[in-house]
Amino acid sequence: MTADTTSPTAPLRLAVVGAGVIGRHHARVALANDGLVVVALVDAVPAAATGAADEIEATGAPRPLTTATIEDAIAQTDIDVVAICSPSGMHVQLAEAALDAGKHVVIEKPLDTTMPRARQIAALAASARERGLVVSVISQHRFDPASVAVARAAHGGGFGRVTSGVASVAWYRSQGYYDSGDWRGTWELDGGGAVMNQGVHTVDLLVWSLGRPVEISAQIGLLAHDRIEVEDTAVATVRFDTGALGVIHCTTAAYPGLSARYAVYGTQGSAVVDDDRLAYFHVAPDADTLESAATTANATAVADAVDQKSDVVPTEHVVGGPPEAEHFLAGHGRQYDDIVDAIRTGRDPGVTVDDALVSLATVRGLYVSATLGQPVRIDDVIDGRYDDVVPVVHASPVAAAEGATR
Ligand SMILES: NC(=O)c1ccc[n+]([C@@H]2O[C@H](COP(=O)([O-])OP(=O)(O)OC[C@H]3O[C@@H](n4cnc5c(N)ncnc54)[C@H](O)[C@@H]3O)[C@@H](O)[C@H]2O)c1
Repeated sequence: MTADTTSPTAPLRLAVVGAGVIGRHHARVALANDGLVVVALVDAVPAAATGAADEIEATGAPRPLTTATIEDAIAQTDIDVVAICSPSGMHVQLAEAALDAGKHVVIEKPLDTTMPRARQIAALAASARERGLVVSVISQHRFDPASVAVARAAHGGGFGRVTSGVASVAWYRSQGYYDSGDWRGTWELDGGGAVMNQGVHTVDLLVWSLGRPVEISAQIGLLAHDRIEVEDTAVATVRFDTGALGVIHCTTAAYPGLSARYAVYGTQGSAVVDDDRLAYFHVAPDADTLESAATTANATAVADAVDQKSDVVPTEHVVGGPPEAEHFLAGHGRQYDDIVDAIRTGRDPGVTVDDALVSLATVRGLYVSATLGQPVRIDDVIDGRYDDVVPVVHASPVAAAEGATR
C-alpha cells in the first residue's frame, strides 16, 4: 500500500512507531491537527502500544490499530506517513522499512546514532524524493517563532556579518532518568549523552544560524553519573564556513537544571534565545547609527541600542512574557504543519535529512575530536573517515577519589 495523498482534504493517515514518551506525544500532536489521523501505533512492547491506543480512544477519536512491528502495521492498514519514535539507534532501520513500502517518513531526532546509517538514510531519502515522498527529521525548535526570527536575521543580513555564537544546554538529568530505560546512556542506542540526546536541538539551531560547520575541537567528561557509557558534560569550539566561530556547552549535570540557550552575534546585530524564547534581539536601525557606532572613540557598547525582542515575536515567545499554551505540543505541531504542507504541495520539508546529517556529523565530530584529542573536519566525518573511532569518555577523577575514600 503506497501513500495516497491525492485527496487534498482527507487527513493523512499516520502510523507512530515507538509508543514511548515521544511517540505518545506525536499521537497527541496528530490528534490536534486536522491534517492528520492516527491509524496505527507500533511498539515492540505490546502494552506500550495498547496503552497509547487507550489514551487516543479516551479522547473520542477512533482506536488505532496496534501492532508489534512496522511491517505488520503496513500490511494491515492504509498508511500515508510513518513517524519513527523508537530509540535513536533504530531510526534508520525502521525508516527504511517505511520508505520501502512507499510511505512518507518523519524521523525523531537525532537522525540516528552512526554516520554509516545516517549516510544510508540520506541516500534513501534522496531516492524517495524522486518518487515524490517526503522525509523530514524532527527539529521542532527550528519552528519556534524566536528561532525563526534569529535565523531570518542571520541569513538575511540583519545581523550584518555573523561573527560568533554560543550554544549552552545546562540541564539536570537524574541517575533515575538514565536508569529508566536500558537504551539510555548507551553509545549504541542513545548515540551519546548530553550532546547527542539533550543538546542536539540547540546545536542544530546554532548550526542553522551560523552556517556550515567546517572544523570542531572538543572535550567530554562523565562527571556526575554512574552506570552510563556516555558523556554528561561536553565543551567544544567550532569554525564555520563563513569564518564565524562557535562554542558548544552541553551538560546534564547542572543541578537543579537551568536553561537551553543560544546566542548569535554579528557586526550589525545580535540575539539570545533562552528556553525557546527571545531573551534579546537587536538589529541596527540604519546606516547612520552604524557609522556613528563605528567612529565613536572608546565606545565599548552602543549606548542607545534598544532591545527589540518584543517587536519581532508575539509576547508569549519573549522571555518574561506569558507562557505559550501547551508549548511542547505546539512545537511539534508547528513542524507537523510544515510536513503536512510539504506532502500536500510536493515541496521539500523545512527540515530535511541533509540538514539533520550535518547536525549529526557535528555531534559525532565532537565525540571524535574529544576521543582523538585533535580538531576534526566535519566533511571528513560525513565522508566516513572516522567511522571506526569508538568514543572514549573519562570519568571524574574527583568522583573516583571520593569513591576510594568511602
Ligand atoms: N524532539 C524531542 O524533543 C524529543 C524528546 C524526547 C525524545 N526524543 C527522541 O525520541 C526517541 C524516543 O525517545 P523516548 O524518550 O520516547 O524513548 P522511550 O524509551 O520512552 O520510547 C521508545 C519506545 O520505542 C519502543 N521500541 C523499541 N524498539 C522498537 C521497534 N523495533 N519497533 C517499535 N517500537 C520499538 C520501545 O518499546 C519504547 O516504547 C529518541 O530518539 C529520542 O532522542 C525526541
